Amino acid sequence: MNTEYSALMQIAARPEVTFVRGQGSRLYDQQDNVWLDFVQGWAVNTLGHCPEAVSDAICAQSRRLINPGPAFYNAPALALANRLAALSGLDQTFFANSGAEANEGAIKLARKWGQKHRSGAWKIICFHNGFHGRTLATMSATGKPAFEPLFNPKVPGFTKVPYGDLAAVASAIDDETVAILLEPIQGEAGVIPAGSAFLQGLRQLADRHGLLLMLDEVQTGIGRTGVPFCYQRHGIEPDVVTLGKGLGGGMPIAALLAKADACCFEYGDQGGTFNGNPVVTAAALAVLDAVTAPGFLGRVMERSEQLVTGLKALSARYGLGEVRGEGLLIALDIAPLDAPALVGAAFETGLLLNAPRLHTLRFMPALNVSASEVDEMLSLLGALLMRSHH
Ligand SMILES: Cc1ncc(COP(=O)(O)O)c(C=O)c1O
Repeated sequence: MNTEYSALMQIAARPEVTFVRGQGSRLYDQQDNVWLDFVQGWAVNTLGHCPEAVSDAICAQSRRLINPGPAFYNAPALALANRLAALSGLDQTFFANSGAEANEGAIKLARKWGQKHRSGAWKIICFHNGFHGRTLATMSATGKPAFEPLFNPKVPGFTKVPYGDLAAVASAIDDETVAILLEPIQGEAGVIPAGSAFLQGLRQLADRHGLLLMLDEVQTGIGRTGVPFCYQRHGIEPDVVTLGKGLGGGMPIAALLAKADACCFEYGDQGGTFNGNPVVTAAALAVLDAVTAPGFLGRVMERSEQLVTGLKALSARYGLGEVRGEGLLIALDIAPLDAPALVGAAFETGLLLNAPRLHTLRFMPALNVSASEVDEMLSLLGALLMRSHH
């Protein structure tokens, strides 16, 4: 390894390239080599790299006030909390710095609510192959098999059942169950949609048993699936929603939203030094302005159709598998081809793709990706598939 890299803890197999600037769907290294970016920081850069509106908001706010501290109100945080309430139908927000921290807050909120309203119920039903983050509690809630042997003992109280199996959820509920926590589309598992019937069934079960229905929209929220929040397409209202990734357009901000009935934190239960600071909340306001502007989400759906149609054509041509997902969170199964190897080959040709599973590619471009960038990605991918085919 180049010694320049060795002062960083090695937490991922990073390519030995140092990125220095980005614009829209393009990312550049020190030598000015350019990549077409269909990963966008793992579905984080809602408006692509360095969108002017977000950069301007950060710069302007950083000259006014960077951080008065979380025990004081600040104007962008208040404006953002009110915007999120109006957009989601949930009542109150707690800001956090990462998706894991927002989910950790949701777990704490559920346990507190159980203590106050459900005679101490504290267990949360989660799902096989779900992903909720890398803190100890969120790793414990995660259903990724690779996490099972890690960092034991885990935080107790997470009952795991198969995703999509309503009967399994029903039979896992007992007197100590307080909540159900799931992603409306399992992202890291390979873009597996829950679907309307399952989500509606969970809502009914939660109502019948007095449970909180908590949706992890860290990956699916903020327009990613063509609606502000994924649950809005499936005809349900959750009690708790977590957001992260796309909310700040690349800036570290996440959020825990809850219906008034579920908001039960008391002073001292929850907090954080950097939470809801005016710079990150100003960035998120700029993102929300763009995503809620007339026509924006319609264009997301147009690009989605273009991407899905193109991927289906490639799949048919090369005898590959399913194309699935919603909006601009799309996967292509490429069995028997090796997806990490294809991602490596794509990197060499100037295309950034992601492989959440051994035989699955995931596409999560900027939501304002252009039609010609989608075409360009499809033709680069087509050339790579042709090569792998021979
Ligand atoms: C659904 C979901 N929840 C939580 C997380 C964790 O978010 P963060 O990496 O910001 O802690 C992720 C990240 O990939 C995610 O996809």
